Amino acid sequence: MKQIETEELSFDDFDEVMTPRPEENDFDRIVEAAIDRRGFLGGALAFGSFTALGGALTASTAEASADRFAFTQIPTNGDDAVTVPAGYKVDILVRWGDPLWSDAPEFDHATRGTAASQERAFGDNTDGMDVFSHQGKTLLVVNNEYTNRSIIWGANPDQKAANDDDIAKGMLAHGVSVVEIAPVDGAWRLVKDSPFNRRITPKSEMELTGPAAGHDLLKTDADPTGKKSLGTWNNCGNGRTPWGTYLACEENFNGYFSSSEKTQDQKPVELSPAFVRYGIRTKDWGYGWAKIDERFDIAKNPNEPNRAGYIVEIDPTDPTSTPKKRTALGRFKHENAELVINGDGRVVVYMGDDERGEFLYRFVSNGVYAPGAPTEDLLNDGVLYAAKFNEDGSGAWVALTPEATGMDAAEICIHTRMAGSKVGATTMDRPEWVAANPKKAEVYCALTNNKNRGVKTNAGGDPTPAVGPNPREKNNYGQIVRWRPEGGDHTAAGFTWDLFVLAGNPTVHKDAYAGSKNIDADNMFNSPDGLRFDSSGLLWIQTDGNYKNEGDFAGQGNNQMLAGDPVTGEIRRFLVGPKECEVTGLTWSSDRRVMFVGIQHPGERGDSHWPEGGEATPRSAILAISREDGGLIG
Ligand code: FEO
Ligand code: CA
Ligand code: CA
Ligand code: CA
Repeated sequence: MKQIETEELSFDDFDEVMTPRPEENDFDRIVEAAIDRRGFLGGALAFGSFTALGGALTASTAEASADRFAFTQIPTNGDDAVTVPAGYKVDILVRWGDPLWSDAPEFDHATRGTAASQERAFGDNTDGMDVFSHQGKTLLVVNNEYTNRSIIWGANPDQKAANDDDIAKGMLAHGVSVVEIAPVDGAWRLVKDSPFNRRITPKSEMELTGPAAGHDLLKTDADPTGKKSLGTWNNCGNGRTPWGTYLACEENFNGYFSSSEKTQDQKPVELSPAFVRYGIRTKDWGYGWAKIDERFDIAKNPNEPNRAGYIVEIDPTDPTSTPKKRTALGRFKHENAELVINGDGRVVVYMGDDERGEFLYRFVSNGVYAPGAPTEDLLNDGVLYAAKFNEDGSGAWVALTPEATGMDAAEICIHTRMAGSKVGATTMDRPEWVAANPKKAEVYCALTNNKNRGVKTNAGGDPTPAVGPNPREKNNYGQIVRWRPEGGDHTAAGFTWDLFVLAGNPTVHKDAYAGSKNIDADNMFNSPDGLRFDSSGLLWIQTDGNYKNEGDFAGQGNNQMLAGDPVTGEIRRFLVGPKECEVTGLTWSSDRRVMFVGIQHPGERGDSHWPEGGEATPRSAILAISREDGGLIG
């Protein structure tokens, strides 16, 4: 058996290696799709008219705006530094391993900490985040998505866990950090020992709520009720509710499970179809958690994986509150949760499942939100939908009901991917963040890339033809799709869609891989991931892509953050991150004078010492970016 060097793979490639997909063999259909695609791209994009995609990029006089960008675009680079436009300054707010309490030590670059120090410190690999104002204080809630073994165990000669404490340190670097922050001498700083500081880790008590709570598939020996799980991990993007809670979104939760049963090789045939669909394997991704906690051994606890992959609602204002897993919002590799209050008060949550060929979802609550009224059941009771995109620019949300899927309400929440397949939802190019335009009923989703598009099915065997919003075979650059709900009603069944941008490289390609009209040699990028609107209606785009700066990616430099004008389609680069990082997570201070931006996994391949430089250990960190003139930013 070939030894899999998982450390050399990108994080998103693990599943592919562990669960090989069947090759597409429907030759005729692929050819047909390719012809369709030529028509679609030739007619719409090559000639620079987006009208065939719905016409949304043609700025109407009413919408046309003056230059909304308060900065001059910066060129890309490959520096081990953060670069922003002239007139802006960057400060570091908090780094992996910074202690939240004064009884904990400062980060130790030689050892990179212990389980005990990590449990009292800011977690690793910052991702989605939001700021909350409470009792005159500012609380920052941040996902700590995962750890890079080569970094967290980088003090060990083989960069692997040497003992149980190393494994526990890795585990405790996951989860969510709640920290109070405050301005000190003009710079935002962590408030050590704040009563609101909190680490939520894979060991914290959670409550399972919604239709799947108490179902047999959620029961374990340790929890015969199926209503109390422990911990959250691999939280990627986030969401926030108007009632003041934070939503952490469990993404690659599968990579932490393994089996003590002796099995041959890594054959998926030995696993249930549900495990195969969700990438649960007999071997984990190198975290080793089953060695210190039997919950992660699927031979002993086969239902434990069913208790992860949800959206977790956290009340940051009460450090003793029990986070709630909201099963009604489905179980998949959640990216973020973009919550909109519809005109009639119903709560609509848009969510992507970040896996090649998986789906885009919408939840609509049965109850309505009213300030001051109870909110406990709003995210427990409602209907989940999956998106179907038609090639003519129309689309529909298909309800995942027992009638439509043949599954009961709890099973739909637990095996949501299978429910999506049953209704023929559109297989997407890895839906990452969803962002709703605050100025109109219009929603955007980053489809980061998909090398399997037109080549392989998804893990459920659904075809992935290169058509519609996923028009390019072996899509290595990604795109951003957007849709407008019928009648401006986010609960409507229908919508129209178009592509806001097809990322690409016009210096290398002259075809669809050059990108759409709003991409040129100066603003090009690949793999859009984080998306968030600011209060002015500018769309911020963060990338998690190939930073080799050669071949197809020549001239694109390190991962970056750009801003797009939803009216004109113009896109400009605002920030370039340090080496081997991903830029992810974005929020603002309540006075909109500081923008907080996350830098995740600098040096994931061993070539960064950011932010401290010299020979320092690279550390994921949150930037506080402000204007030198103190003006508004976002
Ligand atoms: Fe954690 Fe899909 O990014
Ligand atoms: Ca992401
Ligand atoms: Ca990504
Ligand atoms: Ca990431």
